[in-house]
Amino acid sequence: MSEHTPASKVLDRVLVLEMVRVTEAAAISASKLVGRGDEKAADAAAVEAMRKAFDELYMDGTVVIGEGERDEAPMLFIGEKVGGAPGKGPKIDIALDPLEGTTITAKAGPNALAVLAAAEEGGLLNAPDVYMDKIAVGPGYPKDVISLDKSATENVKAVAAAKGVEPGDIIVCVLDRPRHADLIEELRGLGCGVVLIGDGDVAGVIATTDENTNIDIYMGSGGAPEGVLAAAALRCVGGQFNGRLLFRNDDERSRARKWGIEDLNRIYKLEDLAKGDCIFAATGVTDGSLLDGVKHFKNGKLTTESVVMRASSGTVRWIKGEHAI
Ligand code: FBP
Repeated sequence: MSEHTPASKVLDRVLVLEMVRVTEAAAISASKLVGRGDEKAADAAAVEAMRKAFDELYMDGTVVIGEGERDEAPMLFIGEKVGGAPGKGPKIDIALDPLEGTTITAKAGPNALAVLAAAEEGGLLNAPDVYMDKIAVGPGYPKDVISLDKSATENVKAVAAAKGVEPGDIIVCVLDRPRHADLIEELRGLGCGVVLIGDGDVAGVIATTDENTNIDIYMGSGGAPEGVLAAAALRCVGGQFNGRLLFRNDDERSRARKWGIEDLNRIYKLEDLAKGDCIFAATGVTDGSLLDGVKHFKNGKLTTESVVMRASSGTVRWIKGEHAI
């Protein structure tokens, strides 16, 4: 875990804190569109603000997980250079989701976040935008307590035994999707509590690390890019994660090969998704289990809540911002 991760000189301390400005900017912009029913506008606002905020940072950044491939995303596309010091500043790879939870934001639901992860060049898996089967637990469990090679029942039993409780005492967070019907039935058959979330599995995975949420395990499939972002967070705070890419067709398989992924059935653990020193930063757009959302007050004043973490130190900083606009 964090104690064993050498600190990167590239991700210097200043940059760690500066990353929060970037997620704050995206969250503030998106917050103006909370509940307005327009997912695209909310996403576009977050993307534009995040893109601009990156320019203020002294770094030579490259987006490795972003809004899509160059031909499908006008800004923050994969491969785009970001940062105010191209060719001069530290070379940093960035995984980002300016608005994790576009539908949540449009409907004013919980847990929408502006998120990013940063690592030294080559530190983050260049995950294609396909689905990923995921399972995660928080810190404090024996190594390999969970595995995607095991059934949901076996995983629940292993976690329950390690926690010293009955399988029926385990609470599992799952995205509420028809594709998870069998999984949910299996979990309920064991007596588990199933917390169904409408969207936002980065927050869902991170919830396993926070005892206040009561969530023991995250299970199910969601976006692969979100898997890398969540893994970066778990690298910083501890926990275990398994992810396996899921392909629906040959086009998705060839996209993965294009990004250098040869073993399409591989199970990725935390270090395979985010290796070496890394930073995870997030700002709440709407209130959620991890962070409060942006609050708008009289006279244009607004507040933000953010978290920034670093793998090498294991430091987690909670940052409340008051912004005079
Ligand atoms: P967006 O921010 O792109 O809307 O993603 C929200 C999300 O719920 C992710 O957290 C999750 O990984 C993914 O969508 C799940 O995909 P799907 O909605 O297709 O099941």
